[in-house]
Amino acid sequence: MTERISRIVSEIPETKVFGDIGCDHGYAAYEMLKRGKCEYAVISDVSAKCLKKAEDLLSSYVKAKKAVAIVSDGFDFLPHLDTALIAGMGGEEIISILKNAKELPENLILQPMKNVEKVRVFVVENGYRVEKDYVFYCGNKYYNLLTLKKGEDRLSEEEIEFGRTNLKEKSADFKKMIGEEIKKLLFFSENSPEKVAQELKSKAERLKKYVED
Ligand SMILES: C[S@@+](CC[C@H](N)C(=O)[O-])C[C@H]1O[C@@H](n2cnc3c(N)ncnc32)[C@H](O)[C@@H]1O
Repeated sequence: MTERISRIVSEIPETKVFGDIGCDHGYAAYEMLKRGKCEYAVISDVSAKCLKKAEDLLSSYVKAKKAVAIVSDGFDFLPHLDTALIAGMGGEEIISILKNAKELPENLILQPMKNVEKVRVFVVENGYRVEKDYVFYCGNKYYNLLTLKKGEDRLSEEEIEFGRTNLKEKSADFKKMIGEEIKKLLFFSENSPEKVAQELKSKAERLKKYVED
């Protein structure tokens, strides 16, 4: 199991029926069962070939009827889930899966690889409250993680751009990411035409307050 998956699993609440949508290797569901964080796991992937990896990893749980493997596009053929994880996909793909679901779980854990702002807007407009929304650094990359529960919420423009927990806690990883973004903007501004350079510099200036203590 990777450090990224371990971080994600540590944020998933204890639950009855856990579903991993687009599970691929199945590490998250395996770890949920191993840690006793769920009673039953549904491993699911649109690709039968990918799902086979998870089925092999979880074979003892499948035999013990503690897990089931289902080939499915998003939530299409899945039973009722109390908690679902969708990790390692693009934000637009995640939104499309959520849009097409006939029933959504009480708890949703999302780890979009891009377009996190769009995901933030979509989930809040579609009946979820943001419990945590933060970035973590792992294996040379930054990952956004959102933990959501059904309920009402509103996000400010700043929360949509940066993530609620990042703004509240200003973690070392968040500051590192913003610091790198500032450096990049200033670097590109040096070789850009005047108007673009000004825009890049003013964005860098705007970001500075997020790295201050
Ligand atoms: C990059 S892998 C991520 C695997 C794992 N969730 C992780 O975070 O490491 C993306 C997986 O999502 C699956 N996938 C893509 N679109 C899907 C969909 N609409 N429904 C179910 N699975 C999907 C792919 O087949 C692939 O196995």
